[in-house]
Amino acid sequence: MAAQQNKLAYITGSSKGIGKALVEVLLEKGFQVIGLSRSNEIDHHNFQHAEIDLSNIKAVAAYSFEKQASQVILVNNAGLVGDINPVGAVDNQKITEVMNVNTIAPQILCNNFLKRFQNEKGEFHILNISSGAGKSPISSWATYCASKAALDLFSETISSELEWSQLTNWHIHSCAPGVVDTAMQSQIRTASEAEFNRVQYFKDLKLNNELYSPEFVANKLLQVIENPQNFPETLISVRDF
Ligand SMILES: NC(=O)c1ccc[n+]([C@@H]2O[C@H](COP(=O)([O-])OP(=O)(O)OC[C@H]3O[C@@H](n4cnc5c(N)ncnc54)[C@H](OP(=O)(O)O)[C@@H]3O)[C@@H](O)[C@H]2O)c1
Repeated sequence: MAAQQNKLAYITGSSKGIGKALVEVLLEKGFQVIGLSRSNEIDHHNFQHAEIDLSNIKAVAAYSFEKQASQVILVNNAGLVGDINPVGAVDNQKITEVMNVNTIAPQILCNNFLKRFQNEKGEFHILNISSGAGKSPISSWATYCASKAALDLFSETISSELEWSQLTNWHIHSCAPGVVDTAMQSQIRTASEAEFNRVQYFKDLKLNNELYSPEFVANKLLQVIENPQNFPETLISVRDF
C-alpha cells in the first residue's frame, strides 16, 4: 500500500471526458491524483481537486506542484475547440481563451513542473494531450489546429532538451487521442454547415458508433504512463497502439 502512494498524477481537465476517465483509471491503479479544472465531480480519498481557470495565465503561473512522490506525472489534458468558424468570423476572445488553455497553460505548467522536479530523484513523465488537428488543417478550427501544433513542437523540443541534459529518468509525450465521445464532440456536432463544412462527417461518426469512449482512451494512455520507454517517439497517436 505504501508503494502505491508513491505514484502521483497532476491532471488538467479532470472534471469531464478523457481527463475524468483517466483520473478514474489511475485511482484504480493506486495513484494519488490532483485534478486541475474549474469544476469537479470526483470524490475519492486519493483525489484532490485544485480549482483553477486555465485561461487565467496569472493563476496558472502561480500554481505550485507541492506534492512529490517517487513517480510523478503531469497530464496536460484540458482543452477546448473554441469558436467553430472560419477566420474572419471568429470571436477574438475565444482565440485568446483557446491559446491560453491549450498552449500557454501547458507550457507554463511544463516549465514549472521541470523547475520543481528536475533535480529530484524519481521517475517523471509529461503527457500532453494533443490532436490530429495539430498535424493538418481543418477549416473552421484554425486556432485549435494551431494550438495543438504548438503543443506538439513544444513537446518535441522538451524531448531534445531532456536528451541534452541526460535526464534519463524523464519522459515526455504528446498524444493524439483519436475522436472521442465527449462534450467537445457534442459541441462540434452543433455547428451548422455554414460554420463547419465537415460537420456531417462528425455527425456520421457518432451515428455509426465510431467514436472512442473516454474509458478506452484512458486505458490506452495508461499504457504510455506505465511503460513510457515502449514509446520512443514524442508524438504518438492512440490510433497506432
Ligand atoms: N474529444 C475528442 O474527440 C478529442 C480529439 C482530439 C483531441 N482531444 C483533446 O483531448 C483533451 C480532452 O478533451 P475532451 O474531449 O475530454 O474534452 P471535454 O470533455 O470537453 O473536457 C474538457 C476538460 O477541460 C477542462 N477545461 C476546459 N477549459 C478549462 C479552463 N478554462 N480551465 C480549466 N479547465 C478547463 C474542463 O474542465 P472544467 O470545465 O471543469 O473547467 C474539462 O475537464 C483536449 O485537450 C482535447 O483537445 C479531444
